[in-house]
Amino acid sequence: MKLTLKIWRQKNATDKGAIKTYTLDNVSEHMSFLEMMDVLNEQLITEGKEEPIAFDHDCREGICGMCSMHINGEPHGPDRGVTTCQLHMRKFNDGDTIYIEPFRAKGFPVVKDLVVDRSAFDRIQHAGGFISVPTSGNTQDANATPVPKADADKAFDAATCIGCGACVASCKNASAMLFVSAKVSQFSLLPQGKVEAKRRVLNMVEQMDKEGFGNCTNTGACSVECPKGISLENIARMNREYLKATISGE
Ligand code: SF4
Ligand code: FES
Repeated sequence: MKLTLKIWRQKNATDKGAIKTYTLDNVSEHMSFLEMMDVLNEQLITEGKEEPIAFDHDCREGICGMCSMHINGEPHGPDRGVTTCQLHMRKFNDGDTIYIEPFRAKGFPVVKDLVVDRSAFDRIQHAGGFISVPTSGNTQDANATPVPKADADKAFDAATCIGCGACVASCKNASAMLFVSAKVSQFSLLPQGKVEAKRRVLNMVEQMDKEGFGNCTNTGACSVECPKGISLENIARMNREYLKATISGE
């Protein structure tokens, strides 16, 4: 395939940034999207005229959440249920023009090119704190605390959130509620997480607001674009948890 790539270039956080156009020949349909970006970077290095394009990546197998970028206006591109590193060039056609931009949100300032600072998510998780139930050393057998299968499944589904930030990037309010609600839900559904449940939800929501993320207005784009299919049900659960914690005067 021959592709025209329109890519956001921005030297640093204060640079204004602009879209630049590149062409790439001989792109195999079997390449992953990031491999295609690697080939472009090798071309740029060989030409020696400009720096390679900075983009985040780590595991390249859909589990670390690092490969966050907007592809043709969608976080992680046109496919569903996959991260950018799992997106393959067979989803595109010969002659296509592809727009590649960083995630856009006040809470995710651009560091360079396609790299954004998502440490706001770390601070929200830190605000959630720890669980006091002992999980190592002289612990009781896991099966001694029965957990309904439906709750265990929902907690596990919530825990599959990889913190990529696509939910924020797809939301017109740059809301982080899908991410935060997944992190709240993965604990609040389990007996081990109920001890600190009220403090956790209040602190995480407070930090989320401090970081400049918007509120949820039930559009649902976050869940559609989420590579892990995190359900909107988690946002409803977080709102209930928050209300309970507020009313009980925590
Ligand atoms: S909820 Fe989905 S889109 Fe949002 S951070 Fe988690 S995995 Fe990414
Ligand atoms: S590089 Fe880890 S999820 Fe894509």
